[in-house]
Amino acid sequence: MSTLLHIDSSPAYSRSVSRELTAAFVMQWKASHPDGKVIDRDLNATALLPITAEWVGAAYTPEGARTPQQKQVLSDSDSLLAELEQADEYVFGVPMHNFGVLSVLKLWIDQIARVGRAFSYADGRPKGLLVGKKATFIVATGGIYDAQTQMASFNFVELYLRSVFAFIGVTNATFITAGGTIALNQGHDRDAFLAPHLQAVRLTANSQFDSSK
Ligand SMILES: Cc1cc2nc3c(=O)[nH]c(=O)nc-3n(C[C@H](O)[C@H](O)[C@H](O)COP(=O)(O)O)c2cc1C
Repeated sequence: MSTLLHIDSSPAYSRSVSRELTAAFVMQWKASHPDGKVIDRDLNATALLPITAEWVGAAYTPEGARTPQQKQVLSDSDSLLAELEQADEYVFGVPMHNFGVLSVLKLWIDQIARVGRAFSYADGRPKGLLVGKKATFIVATGGIYDAQTQMASFNFVELYLRSVFAFIGVTNATFITAGGTIALNQGHDRDAFLAPHLQAVRLTANSQFDSSK
């Protein structure tokens, strides 16, 4: 049985482009994986604590030597990592804010990118531990950041997510970007805007992924 982890981070809820597209992804994925399980994680409804000195100290203390207090400090991180480990596929809704990802998604990444769980240092070299996974990132941006445009170098979303996920072992990453959502505030028809992105999302959700390969 396959498991899909569905993570949203847009605070715009019903007006959100990324949420509408991840919802379509999930619907299509369920249709093509009738026995599959979906885990929903809404980062705008998940109160995560910032990374503190205690958190770092606990993460770098060997598991067997952690105090009850250190275990408590890592408990949110443990739950989020369990969701990542359990799932074979991930779909992320990623709005661009200030040329990067939202703070709630950055904090989630800080909570899961943990030594010994998401990556290790084998022979002094980093090694990703979340292997055999497939991630789809559905990005919504007000402006347009296509390669060859003047704004391309301002897109820190894709480069950052590709890099950090590759670091933790998730090298199979697909990006679907709905660029230019500002047009929706200027009266552009929403259905017409979304149509090509919905098509791309459904196609990706439909493709079968074999995590053993
Ligand atoms: C606080 C804030 C910051 C934003 N920063 C950017 C930005 O740096 N670049 C950009 O192209 N769009 C920016 N936008 C526009 C969003 O990327 C756009 O509204 C997108 O559709 C958000 O995704 P969502 O519809 O899923 O919420 C920003 C929007 C907000 C509310």
